[in-house]
Amino acid sequence: MKISRRGFLGSAVATPVVAGTLVAGAASGAAPTRRGAARDIIVAAGNGLPYLDRAYALLTSGGDTLDAAIAVVTGPEDDPEDDSVGLGGLPNEEGVVELDACCMHGPTRRAGSVGAVRNIRNVSKVAKAVIEHTGHVMLVGEGAERFAVAMGFPRENLLTERSRKIWLLWKETHSTSDWWGPGPASPGWRPPAAAREARNLSPAARVDSLYARAMELGIEPGHGLGAVRRVLFPPTGTIHCSALNARGEMSGITTTSGLAFKLPGRCGDSPVIGAGCFTDQDVGSAGATGSGEENIRVAGAHTIVENLRRGMEPLEAGLDALKRIVRNYNGDMTRLKYIDMTYYVLRNDGAYAGVSLWEGYGPTEPHHIAVHDGTKARAERTVALFKGWSDEFPPTPSLPPERATK
Ligand code: GLY
Repeated sequence: MKISRRGFLGSAVATPVVAGTLVAGAASGAAPTRRGAARDIIVAAGNGLPYLDRAYALLTSGGDTLDAAIAVVTGPEDDPEDDSVGLGGLPNEEGVVELDACCMHGPTRRAGSVGAVRNIRNVSKVAKAVIEHTGHVMLVGEGAERFAVAMGFPRENLLTERSRKIWLLWKETHSTSDWWGPGPASPGWRPPAAAREARNLSPAARVDSLYARAMELGIEPGHGLGAVRRVLFPPTGTIHCSALNARGEMSGITTTSGLAFKLPGRCGDSPVIGAGCFTDQDVGSAGATGSGEENIRVAGAHTIVENLRRGMEPLEAGLDALKRIVRNYNGDMTRLKYIDMTYYVLRNDGAYAGVSLWEGYGPTEPHHIAVHDGTKARAERTVALFKGWSDEFPPTPSLPPERATK
């Protein structure tokens, strides 16, 4: 059937819309809401704390809100010691670091995102470049890497020696049915049955066995238990940051190396606009760290901003998103025990909240929201929906308390 351009437009456009005008009441769902005057404030995940001062100085000297948020998240991206983001991030199951990020620029109401990017450290800035230099919102994989190079970002090896060795520890010890680990000619070799038995060791003996192998692999003693913990409980890491200025402008950004030892090409929530980050400066901004798959299923950041729009307080808005995760499991604690999620919520009047499903990974690692609103950069404990500490997926024995330090 041949359709003329005029005929096509005539059928595709809803009849009540007169060119350039809105149907009466059509704007009400997106109407700006503000409870009070805006103020300069930045909120971030706990690992953003050391970078809040420089970001706040940028914000209060007239810098753009997205640039201020980027000044926070590039801290962990550039830090080889932070193995959840950027340089030094824990790699995928093949030992390759793959990074994800997304951002929203409130003043221009634009969004940019990149997923599964290799060899480029500052994917937060690449997500911003997607906004500024393309007509797209999301680029992934090789195309995203080539775009970053075209934008002047250097290619580099993101795998630090420590992250490589932690990956090797995981690779060698997660299966008894492959050729990874010491072979029969090696003094450390164990026949398959003995290796299988080793996997059924008591928690303490399993930690000891992994720790011993970590030392053999050359992981520094101060990082040995941290490496064991990452093998037993592959982390999701991540950093989110939202920034608001006194003019009421807001932006948000989230960046990560994603779930450690993931399948190549896996993207979690961090590059997904509406899950890892969502900003609408008419209302507020929200972002997430934690279990990406769970967060995508509840479109967490968007859900929270829409909750704010409907009048919820930041705390209630964040807790509601967590309750949706709980609902997805019908409240089954045997499963929820292995899931963790933290949300960072900032309303456009500067009211904020940090909420988490659990209190943290353990008594030495509670979840925090980092805040700077003019007095002093500070970390505040999140409000947890459940009392207690999460065990992360896959379900493995908890570390004995005396070993649960980093
Ligand atoms: N939240 C980060 C991830 O799951 O990839």
